[in-house]
Amino acid sequence: MRIPFKTRILRLFGVLPTKTDRRIASLLKLMTLDEKIGQLNQISGNLATGPVSDRETNLFKIASEGKAGSFLNIKSVEHTKALQEAAMLSRMKIPLLFALDVIHGYKTTFPIPLAEAASWDMEAVELSARIAAVEASASGIHWTFAPMVDITRDPRWGRVMEGAGEDPCLGGKVARARVKGFQGKGLGATDALIACAKHFAAYGAAVGGREYDSADMSLRMLWETYLPPFKAALDAGVATFMNGFNDLNGIPATGSRYLQRDILKGRWGFEGFVVSDWASIKEMVNHGYASNSSDAAQKAFTAGNDMDMAGECYLENLSELVKKKKISMRMIDEAVERILRKKFEMGLFDDPFRFCDSQREQEALCNPEHREAARQMAEKCIVLLKNEKDILPLNRSLKIALIGPLVKSKKDMLGAWSIDWPEHSDTVTLYEALEKRVTDSSMLMYAQGCGISDDTSEGFIEAIDVANQADVVVVSIGEKSDMSGEARSRSDIHLPGVQEDLVMALCATGKPVIVLIHAGRPLIFNRISDRAPAILYTWWLGSEAGNAIANVLFGDYNPSGKLPITFPRSEGQIPVYYNHFNTGRPIPEGHTGETEYTTGYIDISNSPKFPFGYGLSYTSFAYENLKLSTTSMKENQKIQVSFDLKNTGSRTGEEIVQLYIRDRVASVVRPVKELKDFKKIKLKPGECKCLEFTIDEEMLSFYNDKLQWVAEPGSFDIMIGTSSADIRLADILEFK
Ligand code: GLC
Repeated sequence: MRIPFKTRILRLFGVLPTKTDRRIASLLKLMTLDEKIGQLNQISGNLATGPVSDRETNLFKIASEGKAGSFLNIKSVEHTKALQEAAMLSRMKIPLLFALDVIHGYKTTFPIPLAEAASWDMEAVELSARIAAVEASASGIHWTFAPMVDITRDPRWGRVMEGAGEDPCLGGKVARARVKGFQGKGLGATDALIACAKHFAAYGAAVGGREYDSADMSLRMLWETYLPPFKAALDAGVATFMNGFNDLNGIPATGSRYLQRDILKGRWGFEGFVVSDWASIKEMVNHGYASNSSDAAQKAFTAGNDMDMAGECYLENLSELVKKKKISMRMIDEAVERILRKKFEMGLFDDPFRFCDSQREQEALCNPEHREAARQMAEKCIVLLKNEKDILPLNRSLKIALIGPLVKSKKDMLGAWSIDWPEHSDTVTLYEALEKRVTDSSMLMYAQGCGISDDTSEGFIEAIDVANQADVVVVSIGEKSDMSGEARSRSDIHLPGVQEDLVMALCATGKPVIVLIHAGRPLIFNRISDRAPAILYTWWLGSEAGNAIANVLFGDYNPSGKLPITFPRSEGQIPVYYNHFNTGRPIPEGHTGETEYTTGYIDISNSPKFPFGYGLSYTSFAYENLKLSTTSMKENQKIQVSFDLKNTGSRTGEEIVQLYIRDRVASVVRPVKELKDFKKIKLKPGECKCLEFTIDEEMLSFYNDKLQWVAEPGSFDIMIGTSSADIRLADILEFK
């Protein structure tokens, strides 16, 4: 029956309750307090991703007694269906939500998120999340704990691999792309995944880059640097948020009313629900913010944390807190309503088993198109850091010595937060990819050379011997994949073991050496970057890693990646980032040495080893003819910035052009430059295109010392760069 137009309009403006409103209201009337509290409880399956309690959990019993609203770490149609059937035995028959960390792929593993950010290709980022959603939803999963949108300026932090790097603009665009990819056409589609913006907030600002450590900053820094990607996720329609383990300015994020009620549910009007991180409610006792688990439950719940992940703190305490009137039934209902609404939107009340089609699961999990997309994304993530005398791409007729501890590794290529499958045989290693390409097996020789972390160089002899028989050496080094990720902070981010010595020994043979560096974070490899003629940063590229790297090595794909995070020369520089303030004694522009009485160190250059936004290509690009539609902009006006980009090389290539802006004088100091937009453009040799950016007042705005979002009159540098440290065109805009 068609709903009358008038009714639809009244419902749209919240005047009339919708059908779902009515269904939720009638459920809440029928539910007991214990059943409501059950909805606020999330239990983990046996694939624990956090400290496991010694409590014996019979998941089926919990489900059939309505003591959980959601399970995490359960995968496959078979297992989710069985638990959903148990939930249908409960009195209220409320369907379960199944959640999993589908961070960069489900069965087809895509590059780690930091690598995907290096592609600066939002369509590809969205497609990656979309494919992950198609595969995971076919496997009975409703909800992913992604995207992780934590900004970080500290490569010592292990979870740098899981985000989009240091910049709020790039981080915001990636957050938006991922939410749209995961949620697709919207909740209710059987290939949609509920997305979850995490970890709210400032988890990536942990002091010392130490995992779970404290974050402390001005509110201006919080609003200007760490919150924008969360707001971008919210504006993209993200259905859930997860808070974090860290304390922020002395309050654990899980218990922060400011973050969860004032900002998220208040100022931003978020209507989804907030889940804690793993047992982070109970851990507020360790923080010294709660005196016991009951106090922790009360503080988290009143602060706006709706669901308790894996802590059972709500299950144990909320009932008593309601009876003692420390928590109102109205607040319980408000939290339960947020959760029930997502279950209605997912269509689970109409059909709890609509994600339990084993035929669909079978087809979705071995789809060759997904592999193709993963390879294309992996190619886009590779960053060419150095290519002296155009040694790359390689000629196919060359005899190759393939050396290093990661040449044949499958599991490592997947990186942290990949889904744990019984075996990883379908991951393509570098060795397998090159073996397929060479016309004759004698054209490819191999030696391990050394381990990742061991300190013995006894394997060097064999490696040098193999190198001397070849025309070119390709050496594949880096971290182990479990050296980054959660609880994987490193105080020393040099290459582990004797790998750098191995590369030096190979360079000493006089053969051309191409270095592939695999890692989940920026590493420090100064001797290699000064000595080796060619370096590709290959992160962890997922299931198709070997094929993607081979395609770049031989020029089937011209590398286009740019760094989403600054690479330091030394841990001593950290935090080092491009959008810093000028200070009162800046090093003169273009000066790379040390100068007296200027900002910096006496023992090292102030500049990073490789700057934010940096990445080379096998071709070259010229930037010409910058034009501003006007050099004087008024309030609420927009101006156009145009320029010509020309491919001046001999190969088709993609360039990521970056728009930076600097507010020269303001009521608070402003960064020397801030990324405000970017475009990725493919040009044939000799091809020239006019590109355009629009500048609006939003781009000139910032939080002043009263936390007001303002654009102040004055002069602004408008800069177009191929990296944050290589500005090709610039002009001045007067804002009146
Ligand atoms: C972990 C992580 C969080 C993840 C959750 C469930 O501790 O902090 O990002 O989603 O637990 O695995």
